[in-house]
Amino acid sequence: MSSILDSLPGLVDFSQKSLLLSAGAIAFNPTFWNIVARREYRTKFLTRIFGGNSQAACYALAATIFSLGLLRDFLYERALRDQPSHPALQGPLPTAAAYVLLAFGNILVLSSTWQLGITGTFLGDYFGILMDSMVTGFPFNVTNAPMYYGSTMSFLGTALLFGKPAGIFLTGVVLVVYLVAIQFENPFTAGIYAKRERERAKASGMKSNAKKVQGKKEL
Ligand SMILES: *[C@@H]1O[C@H](CO)[C@@H](O)[C@H](O)[C@H]1NC(C)=O
Repeated sequence: MSSILDSLPGLVDFSQKSLLLSAGAIAFNPTFWNIVARREYRTKFLTRIFGGNSQAACYALAATIFSLGLLRDFLYERALRDQPSHPALQGPLPTAAAYVLLAFGNILVLSSTWQLGITGTFLGDYFGILMDSMVTGFPFNVTNAPMYYGSTMSFLGTALLFGKPAGIFLTGVVLVVYLVAIQFENPFTAGIYAKRERERAKASGMKSNAKKVQGKKEL
């Protein structure tokens, strides 16, 4: 027991700049897209840059977020290379677990992108590009945030594949950042859709009023 405790400080080398950089990139990305998307929702500044084409503006943001994701993944792998390995994370069992996590993580991410499409995945609602109805099939019937939990699983899988405790630490950072992002995003998105429902109800209310008026005329 004491030898485990003695080895704890050596599990993660916090003096590596690459570790800080990786944690920074992990925290930066959702912060960036939430700030940009909310600003777009309030001011339509991206849509205006794209000459009023909200679809093009959303695709541009999607490409940016995707590129930032690639950079974040690159910085993560580089950070892991600078970190000590641990024997408990090496061998066939952790490696098998790593492949299972990577497989499930990718299934969650890819299937949710497939279901939502590009604009649905990349904050289209903030651009006024709303889905016709909520997607309730797989993977949304197993988790409410398949993109985030799938991504977290991939981070953990990579940590195990490299056999690095620092990867588990950074996966913890990923999970915390995503849990905070969910707290921010879900109520906001729900609000956008609730607004549309109110507008739809109003429009159909007007229609039925018009029918009533029409009915009176016929009397
Ligand atoms: C989720 O939906 C898929 C089909 O879309 C189905 O095969 C699967 O059993 C469902 N899972 C749960 C937990 O309901």
